[in-house]
Amino acid sequence: MLLSNQNILSTKELTKQDIEQILDTADSFKEISTRVIKKVPTLRGKTIINLFFEPSTRTRTSFEIAGKRLSADVINISGSSSSTTKGESLIDTARNLEAMNPDILVVRHKYSGAPALLSKFVDSPIINAGDGSHEHPSQALLDLLTIRSQKGELEGLKVAIVGDIRHSRVARSNIQAMQTMGIKVCVVGPPPLIPVEFKYLGVEVSHNLREAIKDVDVVMVLRIQLERQKQGLLSSLREYSNYFCLTQESLDKARNDILIIHPGPVNRGIEISLDVMESKHSLILNQVTNGVAIRMALFYLLLGEKNANPN
Ligand code: CP
Repeated sequence: MLLSNQNILSTKELTKQDIEQILDTADSFKEISTRVIKKVPTLRGKTIINLFFEPSTRTRTSFEIAGKRLSADVINISGSSSSTTKGESLIDTARNLEAMNPDILVVRHKYSGAPALLSKFVDSPIINAGDGSHEHPSQALLDLLTIRSQKGELEGLKVAIVGDIRHSRVARSNIQAMQTMGIKVCVVGPPPLIPVEFKYLGVEVSHNLREAIKDVDVVMVLRIQLERQKQGLLSSLREYSNYFCLTQESLDKARNDILIIHPGPVNRGIEISLDVMESKHSLILNQVTNGVAIRMALFYLLLGEKNANPN
């Protein structure tokens, strides 16, 4: 079955069936990454371009590894080494890349909506790898895969998303995807970091960390985006940490089987303490491992499903 869209721009556009298909496909691909020869011929002859105008460790690397494990040719272009530094527009950049016949473009950009804009000018499928504060759909999918791998089912779970909700594309993509899958979401943080419009998204809003996490199945801790805090929204990082850093102490009323996830990169000691990060509840590195499988699944379902064998 094909996905309902040829682009992955937003989790809003993914149906429950789409998400289940992506997670099931990712599950079937996990084993390839454990083989001695971590490669299958599924996307041989396909070309993937990763176009990253913002820094990235996890997302860019895992899209590259995912493409290579499926035998696609993968080309990485960073904003700083592209001709946009000489004044070429983003649209012209994408149209010139498309003139070389790639099969898919993966785009990260600091401006919300940049990947959606490009999708109107190029025919190749586009995957949004994070645009401003807007969306990061492949991150939400790997988060769901990580939770489902532990819990078996997603329907009926309760998740608290804690931290800098205002600037978080991860929060926005996850809220939509989690609600589609029947998960109840609570967002937690100081008032300046939770815009008022979030109450219209069907989520609970809490400013009390301990109370909010006492009966949830999963806590997703978000990075305080130090580079986006110039508006003076927080009086000090120390004060933020006093109230919202996830510590062993703050978990004292939480469930024994609580799962802790974080999209990375982590500010150790600001939004999560070192001991919690390294505890048995933490799935932070599982998320990174699952990121490769999710991105393999997205490439396969967008490009190879019609004419390829997953093994
Ligand atoms: N989670 C995430 O997007 O990390 P990177 O910025 O390192 O890609």
